[in-house]
Amino acid sequence: PDDVGIIAVEAYFPSQYVDQSELEIFDGVSTGKYTIGLGQDKMGFCSDREDINSLCLTVVQKLMQNYDISYESIGRLEVGTETIIDKSKSTKTVLMQLFEECGNTNIEGIDTTNACYGGTAALFNALAWVESSAWDGRYALVVAGDIAVYATGNARPTGGAGSVAMLIGPNAPLVIERGLRGTHMQHVYDFFKPDLSSEFPVVDGKLSIQCYLSALDKCYQRYATKAETQMVKDKETGPFSLGHFDAMFFHSPYCKLVQKSFARLMLNDFLRDSNADTTENGIFSGLEAYRDLKLEDTYFDRTVEKTFMACSKATFEKKVKPSLLLANQIGNMYTPSVYGGLVSYIAQNSVADIAGKRVGLFSYGSGLASSLYSIKFSEDTAPGSKLSKLSEVLSDVTVRLDSRKKIAPKIFADTMKLRQDTHHLANYTPVGCIDDLFPGTWYLTHVDEMHRRQYLCT
Ligand code: ACO
Repeated sequence: PDDVGIIAVEAYFPSQYVDQSELEIFDGVSTGKYTIGLGQDKMGFCSDREDINSLCLTVVQKLMQNYDISYESIGRLEVGTETIIDKSKSTKTVLMQLFEECGNTNIEGIDTTNACYGGTAALFNALAWVESSAWDGRYALVVAGDIAVYATGNARPTGGAGSVAMLIGPNAPLVIERGLRGTHMQHVYDFFKPDLSSEFPVVDGKLSIQCYLSALDKCYQRYATKAETQMVKDKETGPFSLGHFDAMFFHSPYCKLVQKSFARLMLNDFLRDSNADTTENGIFSGLEAYRDLKLEDTYFDRTVEKTFMACSKATFEKKVKPSLLLANQIGNMYTPSVYGGLVSYIAQNSVADIAGKRVGLFSYGSGLASSLYSIKFSEDTAPGSKLSKLSEVLSDVTVRLDSRKKIAPKIFADTMKLRQDTHHLANYTPVGCIDDLFPGTWYLTHVDEMHRRQYLCT
């Protein structure tokens, strides 16, 4: 099949948030640490009414309804998540209850886990299925969802929660470019969840940042090398550079790291290009002194960071910032984070603005697994086209974000404590209010004595 890629996208996030400037005061940190230092304005969070199953039920149902897709037309369903509430039963099997009414049980795929990378692994599996001999002509559905919560302390403001669902098939308006993937995987303990009774990870914050940045370097170099091979075939002149992307979406642990990451790609471009223009009007004007830098010496080099942040600022504003809306307003959703970038970009541009664009995506999951790949947007802006439909459906994202309820930091902290105390309890009935949930939200009604979970939809 041709033009395999993403046909439809839907996003779900909780209807409540805590304001990061209020959290700075509540946590007793200096003003600006979370909002300016990390670049985060609001953080979405769930009460005890929502878990990974409900987040995924909600987003799948929403996608099927809003794009008018029949449940019979799905032949594969994959979930990427690191929010584990059962060591055996997958969230995918819980989602099968949505398919009961139509009787479709002939659906491959289960859950995939490695920190924030599971959604990308699920997407790659779905693409491979559509391109394989096992494909039967139906769509694949990829779901990425997580509840990101940290113990009290410096990582807590980098939480978030949400889910994204994507319909995969041929003749897609968002085509995943073939032969262009850069991947880096490595054994490292930067962020992991060894305590199976807790929702909280163990984090080595500084190491996780270094791992993220070095994975980005490696993925970008591998992507660029492959892109240059294609460019030679197409008789285009190289080298490959950020100029070949109209936008770039990143996994966003917090927005400031994404801005630093984009600056880092500019540094990569500079070091990869022996003819980099350092003349007065060139983009690398005045940077000759950095010619002999070694990337691995620069992860925490303030001077290099500042220089390349300044040199990439205008391009960052244009090519990256529009994709950080959900990341800034919800926080790190883990597996859906980079796909929240896609949702933000579509939601904040007109269909004419996104048509024909080429976009790079960097997905990172601690531990670690990472890939950089690219999407080419269709040029078809006609009313009723698949691209127009995407744009139409996602146009309500900003409205939904603005209609959320602000919760005081004290109540947020109490809710985190309640989740911690009741996590994994059997015979538990959640106490969180259901009145404030968005319409169409699935929520937990009861966990019985055998830990079986029951849900209803608002
Ligand atoms: N005004 C403006 N900026 C401030 C202020 C202030 N009042 N106070 C601090 N800052 C700046 C700091 O200078 C720092 O900037 P820098 O990143 O340019 O150095 C930034 O705010 C953060 O302050 P730190 O003191 O470095 O923050 P801390 O070490 O307390 O925590 C961290 C940050 C490590 C990211 C923590 O939140 C964490 O562990 N998060 C989870 C791990 C994570 O997200 N890792 C990323 C990749 S892995 C993944 O996706 C899970």
